[in-house]
Amino acid sequence: TKHLLGIKELDEQDIQLIFETADNFKEVINRPIKKVPSLRDITIANVFFENSTRTRLSFELAEKRLSADVINFSSSNSSVKKGETLVDTVNNILSMKVDMVVMRHSSPGAPHFLSRNIDANIVNAGDGTHEHPTQALLDAFSIRERLGDVAGKKVAIIGDVLHSRVALSNIFCLQKLGAEVMVCGPITLLPKYISSLGVKVELDVKKALEWCDVANVLRIQLERQQIKYFPSLREYSLYYGVDKKLLDQLNKEIVIMHPGPINRGVELNSDVADSEHSIILNQVENGVAVRMAVLYLLAGVK
Ligand code: CP
Repeated sequence: TKHLLGIKELDEQDIQLIFETADNFKEVINRPIKKVPSLRDITIANVFFENSTRTRLSFELAEKRLSADVINFSSSNSSVKKGETLVDTVNNILSMKVDMVVMRHSSPGAPHFLSRNIDANIVNAGDGTHEHPTQALLDAFSIRERLGDVAGKKVAIIGDVLHSRVALSNIFCLQKLGAEVMVCGPITLLPKYISSLGVKVELDVKKALEWCDVANVLRIQLERQQIKYFPSLREYSLYYGVDKKLLDQLNKEIVIMHPGPINRGVELNSDVADSEHSIILNQVENGVAVRMAVLYLLAGVK
């Protein structure tokens, strides 16, 4: 395949190949010389129409570790502000002999639309509420690293599933790898179609934590809420916030994940986020190796 638009389009073998490639790159970037010449003649544009810290820096670092030439575009300080279209913007960037585009956009399907209109490899770095494929890959890679395997593990995705591209990509990825998936949150923040995806649905966060081996805790995405959803942030943290007191009531240890950015004290307390249960910074570390693998496997595919 030429693009990485979503996890939906991948099969288990594709994901395992990405993981095996990422294993090699993880070893490389832990060496004193962290760079390999694999993408020396490739130019990559990181085109971001939405804010990002982790994904953007992680892609940039992955590209630089692979020796690619890198340019970065942010819509907020660009000629998009003067009315230039998405296709015109990207085609102008491609005219400068760019081979691959890593794109984040607030509209679901924007990278799919672009893939039909431009001639370059496209990697989706998050499209609205739809998919965030490299996040799901680094999440599953981090579970595999901590627990040995993803198959057979029980993963609870807790929070604002309705507005979360991380949730959808994680559901697809974890199921393809043989994990059991549960979503948990207030009913107003769960999509109506969620049961049709073959996931368990739980409204009680304590029951979800008792069931799972891994809890992936999500942020409430106020920036995507057109109307005011119930509950408020204060109510959310009261009924769904994950803290040490709650984990201490369980009869077992679970792994805590979060894609970031964390709203400390809302969905996750610092006494859990910074504890030995948390693999949040391991997720970020693994993001670079996983993104190196994705770029390496797609580069040059016509
Ligand atoms: N996890 C994630 O996508 O973070 P950023 O929005 O900071 O890239």
